[in-house]
Amino acid sequence: MKRLTAGITIALSASVATWTAASDDIEAVLQNSFIAKNQATMDRLERDAVQTVCSAPRGMPLDNDTLTTLREQRLNAVALPANGHYLGDWQRGAEVAGSGRGLQSNDDPTQPNGGNCYACHQLAPDEVAYGTLGPSLMGYGARGQSEAMLQYTWTKLWDTHAYNLCSHMPRFGAQGILTEQQLKDVMAYLLDPASPVNQPAE
Ligand code: HEC
Repeated sequence: MKRLTAGITIALSASVATWTAASDDIEAVLQNSFIAKNQATMDRLERDAVQTVCSAPRGMPLDNDTLTTLREQRLNAVALPANGHYLGDWQRGAEVAGSGRGLQSNDDPTQPNGGNCYACHQLAPDEVAYGTLGPSLMGYGARGQSEAMLQYTWTKLWDTHAYNLCSHMPRFGAQGILTEQQLKDVMAYLLDPASPVNQPAE
């Protein structure tokens, strides 16, 4: 039994070493193949603490305390709207949700960024082109506008890692992708009863 355990330990350490070597190679490949252009500079390849932990090779054990600490740090860093008002204009929010422009090398940095929500979510029932990486947000407004709901949704948009450390959703506020006003407009698009998101499907 002891021998078996030792054997497993050796096998596991060996594979962790292989993963580490493989991730070093990937780093070099990325550095050599990424071509900096306009606003897409080499710093796009720099990973922060959350990204480093979350891109650990599959199967590599992650320390629970580190994950909890990182998630708490993200939660504490969320900036709620300065004037306490969460909801903007859903019509402008629809434009933000539908736009996939911004931050790419060929985008004009003087133009506002989009949220590209439809790349991953279904929202308005009459929009047929949407991705399914994220859950459908159709009828999201049915959850109401309690303080808790407003704060939850804002936090999710500001920094999704505050709730789900290794979420695939962009950190719209924390990374300055969307402005405070754009976030408010998207909030209204999700929550305003008049928004297309909250109309019954045909
Ligand atoms: C790259 C894909 C991606 C994009 C772009 C994206 N999301 Fe998400 N979103 C996700 C995923 C995946 C989840 C579910 C897993 C999680 O919670 O992280 C999620 C979860 C959510 C949730 C929580 C859902 C719930 O049931 O409580 C909300 C709200 C949300 N997204 C809104 C948005 C809005 C608004 C936009 C655009 C401004 C957006 N997302 C853009 C991937 C994305």
